Amino acid sequence: MIHPRILVAATAEEAGALAANEFEALIAKKPAAVLGLATGSTPLPLYRELIAREKAGKIDFSRVRSANLDEYKGLAPDHEQSYRKFMQDNLFDHISIKPENTIVPSGLAEDVEKECDEYEEKIEAWGGVDCQLLGLGHDGHIGFNEPEDHFPAKTHEVQLTEMTIEANKRFFASIDDVPRAAVTMGIGTIMAAKKVLIIVTGADKKEILKKTFWGPVDPQVPASILQFHPDVTLICDKAAYPFD
Ligand code: F6R
Repeated sequence: MIHPRILVAATAEEAGALAANEFEALIAKKPAAVLGLATGSTPLPLYRELIAREKAGKIDFSRVRSANLDEYKGLAPDHEQSYRKFMQDNLFDHISIKPENTIVPSGLAEDVEKECDEYEEKIEAWGGVDCQLLGLGHDGHIGFNEPEDHFPAKTHEVQLTEMTIEANKRFFASIDDVPRAAVTMGIGTIMAAKKVLIIVTGADKKEILKKTFWGPVDPQVPASILQFHPDVTLICDKAAYPFD
């Protein structure tokens, strides 16, 4: 088992700043770096920090490329709750990244398999993901790779679990409005990233964080596969860190 490099921050805000350090260093070294990005509550402090750092002249996103982890099925890019809209509102519209250099899986593709294959090809054409950002679901999901009997490899369509639908209903008018399916990078896509940066904050993630890195590797805890990735940095806050 390969252990992650672990940075424990005092707060979620500080975790965001530590994660921003990682991106700042990567982009300084490789201005056209390919970032794998995530949505959800966890990366928000990081995105705020990245916006501030570009304004302060510390980061230049003008050559950076980005590929997002996932998108809800059935939501148009301009839908209030689509992940494309989330990325525009919380990051892309505030930095110098070029629109053509940001990709998010389509939730509207008629031929989902073709869309998934093309998504993988686009990432490969960019030379692969240099640093993949991840959050952690309460059931151990990464992207929308839910607990299963096997680790799914490539970008694919998934049915969301009740737990994930429940967790994500906070963003929708009612639970019935939460899409039941999504398109997500696979575990293989994520594991192919040169570097993985996973941020985990909040006491409610403590138990699943412990299972992820200090339990057996098991597709029922999809994130546990990260124990086999050679370059993982875990940034968590004190509330989520499983040890005192
Ligand atoms: C988001 C994603 C999800 C989230 C996870 C945690 O693009 O792929 O795996 O990272 O559900 O969500 P939050 O950060 O809202 O707790």
